[in-house]
Amino acid sequence: VTVRDVTSRSDLRLVATERYTSPGFARREADGLWGHVWQMVCREEDVAAVGDCWTHVIVDQPIVVVRTPSGALRAFHNVCRHRGNLIQRDCANTTELRCSYHGWCWSLDGENTAIVDPEEFGWPDPEVLRLPELRLATWGGFVFVNPDREAPPFEEWIAPLAADAAPYRMADMRWQAVVSTTVPCNWKVGVEAFIESYHIPATHPQGTCATDDTSAVYEERGEHGLMVISMGRPSGRLGILDETPILADMVDGVIPLQKLLPHQLERLRRIGDGSEVLPPGVKLRDVLIDLSRERAVAGGWADPSFEGGDWYDQHEFHVFPNLVLGVIPGELFGFRFLPDGLDPDSCTFEMLSLRFPEPDQRPAKRAHVPYSGDDEARRATWGAILHQDFANLESVQRGMHSGSLHHVRLARRQELLIAHLHDVIDNYLARRPAR
Ligand code: FES
Ligand SMILES: [Fe+2]
Repeated sequence: VTVRDVTSRSDLRLVATERYTSPGFARREADGLWGHVWQMVCREEDVAAVGDCWTHVIVDQPIVVVRTPSGALRAFHNVCRHRGNLIQRDCANTTELRCSYHGWCWSLDGENTAIVDPEEFGWPDPEVLRLPELRLATWGGFVFVNPDREAPPFEEWIAPLAADAAPYRMADMRWQAVVSTTVPCNWKVGVEAFIESYHIPATHPQGTCATDDTSAVYEERGEHGLMVISMGRPSGRLGILDETPILADMVDGVIPLQKLLPHQLERLRRIGDGSEVLPPGVKLRDVLIDLSRERAVAGGWADPSFEGGDWYDQHEFHVFPNLVLGVIPGELFGFRFLPDGLDPDSCTFEMLSLRFPEPDQRPAKRAHVPYSGDDEARRATWGAILHQDFANLESVQRGMHSGSLHHVRLARRQELLIAHLHDVIDNYLARRPAR
């Protein structure tokens, strides 16, 4: 790498590729970041009944979230205090946390309740054998934990996003689907594909007629970020003044993006095929905002604070470090990328879909599917848009490893949230120097 390559523009933001590829950096993140940050584990609905357990692994730290007899939620390190066996093996309902190896047992509150032959261990004080606890908080129906007892309170940490998220009433939503797969890329490569709109024209060319990437708004919010994407109008890059010739494409572009009511879809199709002509000056975006408002009112999730584009524009809340919650009134479409242990080249991707419960609500679909490098197979699983994103993730990770690129370079405005992600990671790492 030459000096010119790095320093030609002092304000150019460069990020070392080593941060995505090095096992050493993954280890530093495990110690300095994941051990100290609030992170989502599950939804309250996943642990609704007393005795419900949700198991999860934070990089290499097995934990379990439990609905205790008092009705409160608690999170514990899921490791037997005898010889280290994992205690609760899966998400299930139970009356106690019993280790399968030698039968030591803990209450749902983490208190040691049984040791086989305790005299062999000098009748240990149960307090010493308590399961170590993690801090726990809930927000919008999500359960968050933090292994660090010294971390700032959750409410303080989430506050920069909380007011904007509140009108969407995430807590009233329920799972529609969680589909996951293991992707051969670093978790940050994954997150970064969902906190900028700069890639839309090249990666999702079909989206440019009804998604305006050029007017997307990016804001740092504490450790988090907010991206608002203007939907229902052509990309500013296309320079389109008259939408009429592309209305059919626009309608095709928006129909898969939002679950509209049947009569609303009918109307859109009529506009698309020209059998309904929009009055002069009325743009498709105006119609979409109206339809979205009408649907929200009918569904009972209209909030008085929504106005104008709020009814229709996609708000993406980047909850540091690895959760992206995309909302429009009535729906949440989220993405999460979990590091795959200490392997910098692998992560678990989860597609999260939540909606307000409906009378004919079907049970949520949950599936972990094998990763496929095949384009057609990917499209069948993930749909027309996500499969295009996937094609980039694997390829970026390979490029980062090539040795020919030492830094990636970030657009000042449109990739601002990526720069912010790295800055905040560095803040965490700086507080705990490498061992
Ligand atoms: S390892 Fe758990 S009881 Fe022995
Ligand atoms: Fe994308």
